[in-house]
Amino acid sequence: MSMQLLLGQTLGFTGNPLDDWQDVTHHDSAGGVLIADGQIKAVGDGATLRAAHPRAAVTDYGDALITAGFVDAHMHYPQTGMIASWGKQLIDWLNTYTFPEESRFGDRAYADDVAGRTLDLALAHGTTTLTSFCTIHPESVDAFFAAAALRNMAVVAGKTCMDRNAPDALRDTAQSAYDDSKSLLERWHGAGRAHYAITPRFSPTSTPDQLSALGALWSEHPDCLMQTHLSEQLPEIDWVRGLFPDARDYLDTYEAFGLLGARGLYGHAIHLEPCEIARLSEIGAAVVHCPTSNTFIGSGLFDLMGLAARQMRIGLATDTGGGSSFSMLRTMAAAYEIAQLRGTALHPAQLIWLATEGSANALHMGGQIGHLGAGAAADICVLDLASTPAIAQRSARANSIWDALFPTIMMGDDRAIKAVWVAGQPAI
Ligand code: GUN
Ligand code: ZN
Repeated sequence: MSMQLLLGQTLGFTGNPLDDWQDVTHHDSAGGVLIADGQIKAVGDGATLRAAHPRAAVTDYGDALITAGFVDAHMHYPQTGMIASWGKQLIDWLNTYTFPEESRFGDRAYADDVAGRTLDLALAHGTTTLTSFCTIHPESVDAFFAAAALRNMAVVAGKTCMDRNAPDALRDTAQSAYDDSKSLLERWHGAGRAHYAITPRFSPTSTPDQLSALGALWSEHPDCLMQTHLSEQLPEIDWVRGLFPDARDYLDTYEAFGLLGARGLYGHAIHLEPCEIARLSEIGAAVVHCPTSNTFIGSGLFDLMGLAARQMRIGLATDTGGGSSFSMLRTMAAAYEIAQLRGTALHPAQLIWLATEGSANALHMGGQIGHLGAGAAADICVLDLASTPAIAQRSARANSIWDALFPTIMMGDDRAIKAVWVAGQPAI
């Protein structure tokens, strides 16, 4: 059995640090990560692991910080080409920029090109798992899963379903959404590292018939995830109220059709009513924080600490291309800034946890990905904590790992990614 030993500083977690980070956060300034068969076999003192495994091939990253690879819990790979489009808020942004671009993904060659480019950009930014919406076209789903399989990446994705309030070229029907989603999930769910998520875009673009068909599909395949959007912008919430006059609230437009469950991923979840928070929390569903998107599209300030206090699963995500960056470092920085605007300073350990373990827990893959510990997939990110002159001059005067890491979180980008490993193989 060929073994790899990575040496450097290591950072891992044995619990959720959002309450009290100190007891569950483990940093080793001279650590090691032992890898075999695509998995992490041990994390511990570097010299001890080296002595115990003299035949392991050693890669010494010096002072760089070895963490789990980042897990992006919500993004749209078809929006890669139109990221950073100017001047619109959600509904106008969808109609002006997003829908025309998504119309191109019935062309398999185009979908292949963007899928490969997106996954390579993700890896270059230290992200080893993407959770993506595709488009209504089954070709867009095949393209994404095939590109991920080529790279041996664990991914979550699904066909985006829309049968109203979208251009003709981007509308399916309740029946075709059910049929296409079913055949795609039968093809891809559990194939290698692929996971299927049933994907109604959001309730304004699905009729009750379509929501109900997708709810039925989820009940027939309860091991799949379900991803959608919830309460992102106030005009969107008003629109939902008009479209579903009998609904208790926005969440009820999913709940009433079988689309509220523990394996549900609800993106954004900014303007929640107390009843929605109570239902999400009772059910054990996950909300996904997309901070660069929330500032870029002008959506609002996600209540991370308030929802964490309700024991909610919380993932962190770029929401590319509503989000303005492929980088989970930039995403952590935006989460920090939004929390500051709500009166909380998130600790660097909490930010790294959200981008790794928090997102993995939201995907119900805790311990399998996003985890620097024995038994997890060897999906790893190595951070250079002095990647630019501006960061280097700041981290040079740091007197703790946290003071050294925080400038990279706030100012880092793909230049901070020294190496990436996917399933035990070097990818960057
Ligand atoms: N709500 C429905 N679709 C989308 C999307 O593509 N991006 C964002 N940010 N919100 C949405
Ligand atoms: Zn989204």
